[in-house]
Amino acid sequence: MKNRENKILILDCGSQYTQLIARRVRELGVFSEILFWDSPADKIEASSPSGIIISGGPRSVLDSDAPSIPMHILRSGVPVLGICYGMQLLAHQFGGKVKRGEAAEYGRAKVKLSEDGRLFGKIGEEKELQVWMSHWDQVTELPQDFFATAWSENGALAAFESSDGRISALQFHPEVVHTPKGRDILSAFMFDICGCTADWNLGIDWVDREIEKIKEKVGAGRVICGLSGGVDSTVSAVITSKAVGKNLHCIFVDHGMLRKNEADQVMETYRTLSLNVHRVDAEERFLSALSGITEPEKKRKIIGELFIRVFEEEARRIGGSDWLLQGTIYPDVVESGHGGGNVIKSHHNVGGLPDDMKMNLLEPLRDLFKDEVREVGKTLGIEPHFLERHPFPGPGLAVRCLGELKKERLDVLREADAIFIEEIRKFGLYKEIWQAFCALLPVRSVGVVGDVRTYGETAVLRAVSSLDAMTAEWVHLPYELLDTVSRRICNEVPAVNRVVLDVTGKPPATIEWE
Ligand code: XMP
Repeated sequence: MKNRENKILILDCGSQYTQLIARRVRELGVFSEILFWDSPADKIEASSPSGIIISGGPRSVLDSDAPSIPMHILRSGVPVLGICYGMQLLAHQFGGKVKRGEAAEYGRAKVKLSEDGRLFGKIGEEKELQVWMSHWDQVTELPQDFFATAWSENGALAAFESSDGRISALQFHPEVVHTPKGRDILSAFMFDICGCTADWNLGIDWVDREIEKIKEKVGAGRVICGLSGGVDSTVSAVITSKAVGKNLHCIFVDHGMLRKNEADQVMETYRTLSLNVHRVDAEERFLSALSGITEPEKKRKIIGELFIRVFEEEARRIGGSDWLLQGTIYPDVVESGHGGGNVIKSHHNVGGLPDDMKMNLLEPLRDLFKDEVREVGKTLGIEPHFLERHPFPGPGLAVRCLGELKKERLDVLREADAIFIEEIRKFGLYKEIWQAFCALLPVRSVGVVGDVRTYGETAVLRAVSSLDAMTAEWVHLPYELLDTVSRRICNEVPAVNRVVLDVTGKPPATIEWE
């Protein structure tokens, strides 16, 4: 049998927490990989992990087409941990009984532990555990040779293990922060049950190995890359430039929809990082193509297509290349291709280059999560101020300036946004917030300054906390900060006479305004 690799495979049954499980495993020092539950069995076997975690999911195992895992994989001897839906799947497939739930159990709960659960071996003497439950169905009868290791307060089964110690299951979520000892539980599974060693870190060894891999792949070939000013493309470019030097040609297109002073600032950062960057100032081209357009999807389409044209022109001017470097990261890979394939980053600006520009794809960060990319950036010596920047959409302020995109309105938005961000930084809140920005509405309203009636624009303040942008909550910013920002915007940006705050989560809203 092939030697198992020191990694944990997560089989995704549709849980919103799958990527979080993968990140928690890595935080504990072991590489993790995600595959969908219905991936071909040989692909799952080829992964050859030291352990498998089956995620939660929204379905009922009692549905005829519910996610299931081939029995030969569950019986292969590789330790398996089922979480939530994963627990019900294990109970069901090994011959236990699962009852359709009448009501969901969701939120904080306490569970009582037995003496002999191997999964609870690292949590000390405690016999009661604070956990985060989220389930509908219930396991009512265990399969043969399995025993219960935890019960909820109403006596329902909350965890079980197999007597050979290879299969474990939890009805609650060890990966979320609301299960404070969740880390110890995952750690017991990975190290005590699967026998993993903690060897995953993104320090200089990882960086050196990656540089060698790029050298080997690319040789003396030329590489081209679109820089957006964001973290992913910058980190990709820096690591690649360390491997291929001046054979890396970066193209930075200023489409005129960047934030205040952003183009100059990122060019300065690129200069300090010794990147070989070709800057294209294309503001006028973009604004004239967008003239009169108010429909958001149309704006995106025009920007995307023109971006490709400008990038392509510049690439030809440089003399073409053999490789296209992309800042694809792991969530893009998982979300866009059932865990694999060379899918071009779907909402990336450089998606869909014409066929006659045949290039191989180079994606040095495709195994990493965003926080890991930041870690690599740190190892590469990129300044923290740059790495901590909030996410910014490829089409830039076009998705935050509602109505027609005119330079004057974009300048108004830039000024208001810069004030908001400056005050957030002054209050020391920038790092705690996932994303903060201003949007400009296509709505004017009457105001009054002194004796003069105004008819001004409306600026929206948006600040959200999030883990992965899939869901988000609005941040409860201090009144004092909001007050200062509102006064400053109205005083310093004369076109704006009204500042409003967005207090909507995602769902039902999105993070951006468009
Ligand atoms: P929404 O508005 O859909 O945004 O809640 C989720 C996250 O995605 C970012 N976003 C984009 N990023 N190109 C990007 O690179 C885009 O076209 C784009 N649109 C939205 C958004 O800023 C948020 O972080």
